[in-house]
Amino acid sequence: MRGFVLGIVIGILLFLGCMYLYFSWGFAPVATSASPMPLERKLARAAQHAYLDKLPHPTPLVPADEVNLIAGAKVYKEQCATCHGLPGEPKSAVAHGMFPAPPELFKGVGVTDDEPWETYWKVENGIRLTGMPGFKGQLTEKQIWQVTMLVKNADKITEPVKKELLAGNSTPMSMAMDDMGGTPAKEAKPTKENKTAKEAKPTKK
Ligand code: HEC
Repeated sequence: MRGFVLGIVIGILLFLGCMYLYFSWGFAPVATSASPMPLERKLARAAQHAYLDKLPHPTPLVPADEVNLIAGAKVYKEQCATCHGLPGEPKSAVAHGMFPAPPELFKGVGVTDDEPWETYWKVENGIRLTGMPGFKGQLTEKQIWQVTMLVKNADKITEPVKKELLAGNSTPMSMAMDDMGGTPAKEAKPTKENKTAKEAKPTKK
């Protein structure tokens, strides 16, 4: 019996030692393009489900009507689109470079098959070590429900909601990237387009 217990203790110590060496000798993946660690996805999913199952499952604070979906679209294009994409638009450079990849919420199933409380929790609290930010304190509870109802109904949005999503069609990140892509000549000599864009900006007074 003593030998058996000793065996288990040595086994555990050996396992912990190997884990330590795996990380400290630089075998663990660091770059976003590196392949995942063994069991990484499985364990992360299991941990998330086990945790979320223990939480209360609140019902949505707002109905999925057009007013709320349009308000959700405003939040989405400002805070989410850089990573999660817009309907019919190509993935951003940011989305391409992330690990894990942010799911495209307006393509395929997205999170339309998830319960709203689950999406609400993820937007409020984020998902650690994935790049998914928690928006608690940055967005109001109502705004989080509005954007939740939007992505829940991503497969059946109406034209006005889609129009709001694509209006301006420039998350801060893609705006920055457009600027970087602009040729110096274009910047030096504002084209008609640029000029009108500037004029369109509301002036103070
Ligand atoms: C900086 C990039 C980034 C931003 C900004 C971002 N997300 Fe995410 N989001 C991610 C990543 C990466 C994941 C994937 C996490 C994973 O694999 O578990 C994710 C996951 C999610 C999920 C869970 C998807 C699933 O299949 O379970 C939801 C819902 C979500 N995001 C909604 C939002 C909303 C709504 C916003 C804006 C308020 C937002 N995200 C902003 C990167 C981002």
